[in-house]
Amino acid sequence: MFAVTATSFDAENPLNGLTLGEVAEPVIPEGWVLVDLRAAALNHHDLWSLKGVGLRPEQLPMILGCDGAGVDSEGNEVIVHAVIADPDAGDGDETLDPRRSLLSERFPGTLAQRIAVPRRNLIPKPASLTFEEAACLPTSWLTAYRMLFTRAGLRPGDTVLIQGAGGGVATAAIVLARAAGLRVWATSRSDEKRAKAQELGAHATFATDERLPERVDAVIETVGKATWAQSIRAARPGGVVVVSGATTGDDPSADLTQVFFLQRSVIGSTMGTRGELQRLVSMVDSTGVRPVIDSVRPLSDARSGFADMFGGDHFGKIVFSI
Ligand SMILES: NC(=O)c1ccc[n+]([C@@H]2O[C@H](COP(=O)([O-])OP(=O)(O)OC[C@H]3O[C@@H](n4cnc5c(N)ncnc54)[C@H](OP(=O)(O)O)[C@@H]3O)[C@@H](O)[C@H]2O)c1
Repeated sequence: MFAVTATSFDAENPLNGLTLGEVAEPVIPEGWVLVDLRAAALNHHDLWSLKGVGLRPEQLPMILGCDGAGVDSEGNEVIVHAVIADPDAGDGDETLDPRRSLLSERFPGTLAQRIAVPRRNLIPKPASLTFEEAACLPTSWLTAYRMLFTRAGLRPGDTVLIQGAGGGVATAAIVLARAAGLRVWATSRSDEKRAKAQELGAHATFATDERLPERVDAVIETVGKATWAQSIRAARPGGVVVVSGATTGDDPSADLTQVFFLQRSVIGSTMGTRGELQRLVSMVDSTGVRPVIDSVRPLSDARSGFADMFGGDHFGKIVFSI
């Protein structure tokens, strides 16, 4: 089958290790099922993998991709939950299990014609969503959902600041926060992306590092070093900064005085549970909000999608049809 794999690591030029071509069909362990993928979406995680973050050389070649939607062997239209839990972990929060992995970390990912996954990782795809829209939900959108509603505990009427408005997680957070009745503020480096963020539902947008008119209940942080100082200062006394990524670096000043003096909380977040993915899918289905798609291209053009994400000019999800 055709697949997009990481075949080597390059921290400076991650596309050097990207290989497109024929690979062996998936092996299907007991309790797992085969899914014919119809669409897959790209995440920053795929670039990290090509840089050697989260993968060891002996795991190469590895099929990339966390996000996918397709049809299972019984003909059901499904969305794939990318968190592979330890089979003995029970029904608790699988994201907290230290033995859990994401697709493309230990098991082959979604940038392929077919994938094998545990049966419990399949969520029914509502008919209202296209495969391309559904494929956007399991990583960035699920991460944004958990950050806003589980980890920050935001409620209608609260104000949230979303950093790096053009990102996959950030665009999801803008749309979901607006649909949930929050006051939504977003930052971006680009005027054009700030305008697009307002079209998506942000009530106000600001340049990265611009002084905000007032403090917010929570900050959604995925940019890292470039925005951290603003994020810590933007939270109100007792407010929270929820962080799930650090695209620009993970070693900013911790700004401890800002944390303790105004009693702010810094909360980590990663992906989401199967139950959260089901609630997200239900929310998208019932509210009519849809993933923000930067572009859809065939999987055979995956290299150009990776290049666009590496360049950082995209707005929303880069999707591949399969
Ligand atoms: N923990 C998890 O479960 C999880 C899940 C999903 C993603 N993540 C992580 O979260 C991060 C974002 O992921 P994503 O898929 O949303 O990535 P993405 O689509 O590439 O978005 C990254 C955004 O960061 C902003 N940015 C980049 N460089 C910047 C700079 N120098 N200064 C200010 N802003 C900058 C950009 O926003 P503007 O261009 O609008 O300024 C960009 O759109 C990644 O590091 C990813 O690994 C983690």
